[in-house]
Amino acid sequence: MTLHIFSQLVLNWYHLNGRKNLPWQRDKTLYRVWISEIMLQQTQVKTVIPYFKKFISKFPNLNSLNNGTLNEILYLWSGLGYYKRAKNIYETAKIIKNKFNGKFPKNILDLVKLPGIGKSTAGAILSFTLNYFFSILDGNVKRILIRYYGISECLKNTKTEKKLWNLIENITPIHNTGAFNQGIIDIGALICTSKIPKCNICPLNTKCIAYKEKEWKKYSFQKNTIKKIKKKYWFVIIYFQNTIWMQKNTIKNIWNNLFYFPSFEKKNDAIQWMKKNQINVKNIKEMNSFCHEFSHFTMYANPILIKLFFKHNCFNTKKQGIWYNLNKPQKIGLPKLVEKILKLLI
Ligand code: ADE
Ligand code: SF4
Repeated sequence: MTLHIFSQLVLNWYHLNGRKNLPWQRDKTLYRVWISEIMLQQTQVKTVIPYFKKFISKFPNLNSLNNGTLNEILYLWSGLGYYKRAKNIYETAKIIKNKFNGKFPKNILDLVKLPGIGKSTAGAILSFTLNYFFSILDGNVKRILIRYYGISECLKNTKTEKKLWNLIENITPIHNTGAFNQGIIDIGALICTSKIPKCNICPLNTKCIAYKEKEWKKYSFQKNTIKKIKKKYWFVIIYFQNTIWMQKNTIKNIWNNLFYFPSFEKKNDAIQWMKKNQINVKNIKEMNSFCHEFSHFTMYANPILIKLFFKHNCFNTKKQGIWYNLNKPQKIGLPKLVEKILKLLI
């Protein structure tokens, strides 16, 4: 079988210019590649590298991960965002222990049933680690395909999704699948970038329709033009000596299982809550508010600082709470926004 011209071009380019020395490309195991692929799902390589190294030095294999707690995993995930991924990793480790005898599955049908692993991530894990013949179709690959083939349909369309899977599965070479998959991802990340692609140095430029038409903009992901909603939150930062009161899950659907300050959508609710807990609201100090972006909304955070002179035992809550010790921080997951606020306090 002859090699598709597209895959020939990608493979030649990969052997000369592709990334071969990323931390997860050394000592390749299913476990390490799995962790890296989960981290890379929503995050760029340069951000992932230090997180991956820290994670692997604490949890070098499935066995060590299974001895870890969800709090420990979230601690290593703090600041990386999309914390559901950390929970998925925790649950996947348990499933592999109980259902697969502690051995990482190599069968794609088993893999896609695990939390956080879809068809593309499963293909990435198996092709990168074992050179199995599976395609990947992430944002990088989609962008290249729609430009190269001049596809101008809406990408949200499930028919388009199916068409892109068919295209990439036809192009992917049976041999050297791992190198091809890494090559196309690297071209997407380094050359065929979403803004101002470097077509002049692209190995695919001889056949690329977007390049021929000088129209890469036309073949870009339609940006979501719906304005992001804005939400205000008041964070009550209760300070006692060198500790701060934090609890879990006070806001629905964000920062699940992470620890942060008691949070309220209305200032008055924050005040009422403090009064109910016998906090003297005369002593509060409002800090500057600031914005924090989430994928689906913009948060306007209003921190309210309150120093206690004697320790309350507990803030009348069913939520899990702790006194977070600034001098001797507990190993728990904290959102980036909380880390930002803590830096302002210290
Ligand atoms: N994004 C997803 N998987 C990747 C990988 N293996 N290398 C670089 N970027 C990626
Ligand atoms: Fe992307 Fe340009 Fe390469 Fe076409 S020629 S695949 S638009 S970088």
